[in-house]
Amino acid sequence: MRPPSFRTRITELLGIRHPILAGGLGPKVSDARYVAAVVNAGGMGFIVAAGFPEPAEFRAQLEQCRDLTEGKPFGVNLYISRQEGGVDRVRRQIDILVEEGVACVETAGASPEPIVPLLKQAGIKVLHKVPAVRYAQSVAKLGVDGIIVVGNDCGGHPGIYGISSMVQAAHAAQVIDLPLVIGGGIGTGSQLAAVLAMGADAVIMGTRMMVTEELWIHPHTKEQVVRGDGTESVVVKKAIRDHHRVYRNASAEAALALDDAKVTDFEQYRPHVMGKLAHHAYVSGDTRNGMLDYGPAAVFADAIESAETIIDRVIDDALAATARVGALHLAARPVGSRIKNTATGDIA
Ligand SMILES: Cc1cc2nc3c(=O)[nH]c(=O)nc-3n(C[C@H](O)[C@H](O)[C@H](O)COP(=O)(O)O)c2cc1C
Repeated sequence: MRPPSFRTRITELLGIRHPILAGGLGPKVSDARYVAAVVNAGGMGFIVAAGFPEPAEFRAQLEQCRDLTEGKPFGVNLYISRQEGGVDRVRRQIDILVEEGVACVETAGASPEPIVPLLKQAGIKVLHKVPAVRYAQSVAKLGVDGIIVVGNDCGGHPGIYGISSMVQAAHAAQVIDLPLVIGGGIGTGSQLAAVLAMGADAVIMGTRMMVTEELWIHPHTKEQVVRGDGTESVVVKKAIRDHHRVYRNASAEAALALDDAKVTDFEQYRPHVMGKLAHHAYVSGDTRNGMLDYGPAAVFADAIESAETIIDRVIDDALAATARVGALHLAARPVGSRIKNTATGDIA
């Protein structure tokens, strides 16, 4: 594992070695084993609470993660549904994570306003994830500890505005004073360096982590991500304003056809978007059906590797990127020194 190289408000807030978060990866996918691997590699990971609706099962996951990390801080992803009963469901899970001493949560979905006081009282750090800077500005007033902004490149839910991560990152750093995490399309250290240069404090990765050895999903699914160059990523369900960036398979094609026909009746989408289809794909490795969250960062996932190797590679690349930029700085160049353009071979 690489030594700490970057100290930011996020590494300080969460007590982690590297400014790298691995976002929740869907019900039952990011479990204790995967999250512990990320945490032991120096990042922060989140067990997706929605994957473990039975209290005993959820508690067992938290206990397993605590054992595997030998007491290091780890996180839980809480999806707050906008449907009736959504907040109550999350409240029941909060009781358990407070008892089990979870360090931080990644909240997503509806506003975290009703649950922030509960979490803060228990000393749990709250990072709320939003797909647009305009939401981040209102969430910043709710007492959260940090904000995660994901751009249009993100696997999962990029929101309705379609603004790129590059624009959102720079804009968010200009207007958000809280510790800031940027995601959407990230899979290299040069992007981490760029995000830090813009004024943010960490990156969050999802798609890039789908090839992690410690994830239980079928190897065929991981191999498909390795083969992917990102062009298989497509946004569906636009017609019902529930934009979802997924792998282009038969279910995605069906949803795209409904979008093209401007169908707004959810019942027509339901057979293609049922969660059990995605779960089957992860278990069997047959990815023809199901909404499989997937972003263009798949292009950076070039091998099935441990969480530690992936994170170390990102850190090494970030250090190389900062050195590269440092060397370009005119003040850092000895008088009369030349720079070679590596693409053309020209000396300037
Ligand atoms: C397979 C997969 C499943 C995901 N499931 C969830 C989830 O359950 N909850 C959530 O908040 N975000 C979820 N996300 C989003 C990630 O946590 C993260 O915000 C996103 O992947 C970052 O963009 P990237 O995929 O370009 O790295 C998922 C992403 C992927 C790729």
